Amino acid sequence: MNDPHIWWYVSRVSALTAWGLMSFSLVWGVLLSSRVFRGLDNPAWLKDLHKYLSTLTVLLASVHTLALTLDPYVKFDAADLFIPGVATYQGATELINLALAVGVVAMWVMSVVYLTSLVMDKLPRALWKAIHYASYFAFFAIGIHAAFSGTDVGSWWYAAISIFVISMAMIALMIRFAVISLRERRAVADAKVSELRRAAQAARDAVVLENPDEDSRDKRTMVVQKVTSLAKNVLGIRLIPVGGGRTAWWDAGSHITLHLPNGMERQYSLCGDSTDRAGYDIAVLDTHGPEGGSTWIHNNVKAGTVMTVSGPRNHFPLVPARTYLFIAGGIGITPIRAMIESLPAKRDWHLLYLGKNKDGMAFADEVVAEHGKRVTVHESDTTGRFDLSRLLESTNADVYCCGPETLMSEIEQRVERNRAHVERFNPVLREIEGGARPFVVRLASSGKKVNVAANVSITDALAKAGVSIDTSCGKGVCGTCETRIVDGKPSHLDSVMSDADKDKLGVMYPCVSRADGAEITLDA
Ligand code: FES
Repeated sequence: MNDPHIWWYVSRVSALTAWGLMSFSLVWGVLLSSRVFRGLDNPAWLKDLHKYLSTLTVLLASVHTLALTLDPYVKFDAADLFIPGVATYQGATELINLALAVGVVAMWVMSVVYLTSLVMDKLPRALWKAIHYASYFAFFAIGIHAAFSGTDVGSWWYAAISIFVISMAMIALMIRFAVISLRERRAVADAKVSELRRAAQAARDAVVLENPDEDSRDKRTMVVQKVTSLAKNVLGIRLIPVGGGRTAWWDAGSHITLHLPNGMERQYSLCGDSTDRAGYDIAVLDTHGPEGGSTWIHNNVKAGTVMTVSGPRNHFPLVPARTYLFIAGGIGITPIRAMIESLPAKRDWHLLYLGKNKDGMAFADEVVAEHGKRVTVHESDTTGRFDLSRLLESTNADVYCCGPETLMSEIEQRVERNRAHVERFNPVLREIEGGARPFVVRLASSGKKVNVAANVSITDALAKAGVSIDTSCGKGVCGTCETRIVDGKPSHLDSVMSDADKDKLGVMYPCVSRADGAEITLDA
């Protein structure tokens, strides 16, 4: 400790080690975010290693700055360490002073990146990501700092370390950009396939409308063929057309509306085989809710019960993708089951099925028996809450989720919009900023104008004026009232699909949505 150079040595060793560790951490982070380790199924230690390397980097950078205050040659004080442009020492050139200032800026940036990572769960993902990208800047700023202010600059070993560190980072960045451009190309290809799929769906819809007797989606009378118990509080119900015949065409993700004999209407996802045109299979959980629709079904529906059924409709279609991650919460398994059964055998998918315990989880044993390792059944009663953040961070699959609102909101927050697909049967509370205002609906077919008061829905105002639009839930979840917008801007308040998708299709759900402006023209 009596050697006056001791702090100089400490400062050099800690700085070089921190620089090396930072480059490892950066490379590791880039490889993780590029999903290069997908084949290893993203074990937690891969991600933890990135965190440990970052923590060590910050610790050694702190040792470096502390050693500089103790080094009798440079004699840095707090202002030198924390204010860019203040630090200098005897014999330092302008270039060295600039490199010292860059080092201080890099230290601040690195600290912000590190500290925000510690609370990333509490930050909006987009904000955290934007801040995290600043680590690239910090890395290159530290490179400049090291290249021009290091006292070992010029020695062969220093040059070798620098070349190694910078090359590693460059290779990682090249991988990152290559992966980004590959993903963009895939996204364009997927969008094209999606477009084709929509066109095919529209063509099928047209066929259905042209042949109402053959394949109608309008209301039809059906009879319950059988009722089975699928799990605790969950009934499986099979409906077949009265008098035989085929059901309407449907695809995975579709739901039907039951018009119950007691006047209630309830939507249920179809959970059977979409190629089976002899009947519809649904599963009904008795939610014991205040309106009592599912309880009524549990108490009254049995083989032979006749009821009116409309649909199917699909606001949760399975869009072509290379990899799927299905997340089902409780009874949310129903549309997901139809989806996994409709996929080609070799398609890459995984199902995470969340529930309290298997007693109440319909189809749990069946999907495990059929698909083995592709299915993870998580029972929170025995293993606690599932940590979704790790899973969602480590996948670039398209995520399809149906379940409780908290689960679906989490998916929407954590997964990019173009990869997140959710199915809601309960409305999300959405309000117009500043409150609802009156406006006018113009009917494209007749030119007629209808005033819509601030406290009245479009469908109610039109019904009063003698224009009827089919409705079912009246809450903006079932999609029955879908109406094309001819002119004007809507204020979407429904939960049927994302606002961007509605705008792309040019439709709105007037049972809850309104006009954003004084007038809107609808195809009605
Ligand atoms: S009636 Fe259900 S969305 Fe409008």
